[in-house]
Formats: sequence, structure tokens, C-alpha cells
Amino acid sequence: MSPTAGSAPGDLPPALEVDHVSAAYGPYRALFDVSFTVPAGGVTALLGSNGAGKSTVARVVSGLMGTTRGSVRMSGTEVTGMPAYKIARAGMAHVPEGRGIFANLSVEENLVLAFRQRLGRRRVSEALARTYDTFPILGERRRQRGGTLSGGQQRLLSLAKVLQAPPGVLVADELSLGLAPVVIEAVYDGLRSINRAGTALLIVEQQVDRALGLASSAIILEHGTVAFSGPSDTALAAMERILASRTAGSVR
Ligand SMILES: Nc1ncnc2c1ncn2[C@@H]1O[C@H](COP(=O)(O)OP(=O)(O)OP(=O)(O)O)[C@@H](O)[C@H]1O
Ligand SMILES: [Mg+2]
Repeated sequence: MSPTAGSAPGDLPPALEVDHVSAAYGPYRALFDVSFTVPAGGVTALLGSNGAGKSTVARVVSGLMGTTRGSVRMSGTEVTGMPAYKIARAGMAHVPEGRGIFANLSVEENLVLAFRQRLGRRRVSEALARTYDTFPILGERRRQRGGTLSGGQQRLLSLAKVLQAPPGVLVADELSLGLAPVVIEAVYDGLRSINRAGTALLIVEQQVDRALGLASSAIILEHGTVAFSGPSDTALAAMERILASRTAGSVR
């Protein structure tokens, strides 16, 4: 990684700018005035406890959910209120929490569909070979229907769809959930390599160490607001402070 990785070289706008964003599920307000950036080519970790609003941020930036206030820009372009497919076309990939795959298609059909769309027909077989090389379990299960894979295998499949055709920005929501340590290693190798090739990453994780190992900056959400924003090497201490102040207050 170059010494300037993580900071926008020259006058490149940030890959992602979330600017005073609030969002709600009907009457339930989930985000309050959230602001942060992912630098061009950079990696930002989005941390916080269960229910803090991490997945909501992921949904908002990828256009799956609207904002009630504020704006989202991708590489300097306003994308607030744009439908998800247009944001995807502009270079955003979102690996959602849970299972972002077609349950009725086989593993290979899922991959072929994604690779055809993103790489073109001629590069599909090469991309399949590389995927099975990185994640042998997907090769072994290539004819199995996506919906019958285990939870962890489904996470891998949804990431594999993205890794061979690196997007401008990847929003990865709890990628390592339910994966064995050796597989998590392969997942993070994949993330590192697409970041080296230029993809900016917003990584939502409960496995704080993993995310902070790759990220240069971190955001900690608490009850839908930004409780910390700063360099990743100071995030662990911030997290402990936040947890300590929470235990000192009312137990929730
Ligand atoms: N579809 C929904 N309808 C109503 N409330 C929702 C919906 N989805 C999420 N919420 C609420 O919004 C808040 C933020 O949820 P979100 O899924 O963003 O949290 P999270 O930080 O991703 O948590 P986790 O670590 O458990 O995945 C939670 O209180 C949750 O209950
Ligand atoms: Mg979540």
C-alpha cells in the first residue's frame, strides 16, 4: 500500500460522503445527523453494537432506503434519493447483511449471472476458475441451489459475486459473520486485493480487530449517531470508552 493510501491523492473527491444524514423506518427514527467520508481508494470501518444503525447506513448509501435529511455523494456525485440500481451502475456494490443471492439458482448460476453483467460473457469462465480457486467450497457446491447453502456459504457466494469485478465502492455488511477463521482469512485477503486495485471499502463488522486491521479510519455508531470518528488505530480505545460510559449509565 502506498504511503498516501487512505487519503485522497490530489483533488480526488472522497469515494463516499455521508453528509448530515437522518433516516427512519416509518415512525422509528434510526439515524440522526450521521456524517463521515470514505476517502478515494480508502478503507473505513463502521463499528457499533447491535442495533446501532450500521446496516441502516449501508442501506442508505446503496439506495435501498431513503434519507429523511442530509445527502450522500459518491466520488463527488450526488446520489441521494437515486434508486439502488442506478447507484450500483455508478460503481457501488453492497454485500448486504444476510443473504444477497438468488435462492433458486445454483451457486454457479449465481456467479455466471453476476460475472456476465459485470465482466461480459467472454471473461466468465476465467472469473469462475479464480473464484473456485479462492473459495474451494463454492467449487464443490457449484450445482447446489443457493438457498440450500449454509449461512456462511451464502455470505461467501454474495462476496464472490463482487470480488472478480471490483466496484468503485464496496459496502460489506458483516461479511465474516458465521465464517470459520480460515475462511475469514480468505475473505479479508480478497478485500485487501480489490482495495489495492482501487476499490474503496466501507466495512461493517462486529469483528472489530479484522476491520481495523484493514481500515485507515473508523466510525463508531451509538443509537443512530456518530459517537466516534477518527484514525483506526485510536478506535479500539474509543470503543472501550464508549462501552464504559454506557455501563456507568443505565444498563440497556
Ligand atoms: N425494517 C425495519 N423496520 C423497523 N425498524 C428497523 C428495521 N430495520 C432495522 N430497524 C431498527 O433500526 C435500528 C438500527 O438497525 P440496524 O439494522 O441498522 O442495526 P445494526 O447496527 O446493523 O445492528 P446489528 O449489528 O445487529 O446488525 C434498530 O433499532 C432496528 O431494530
Ligand atoms: Mg446490521
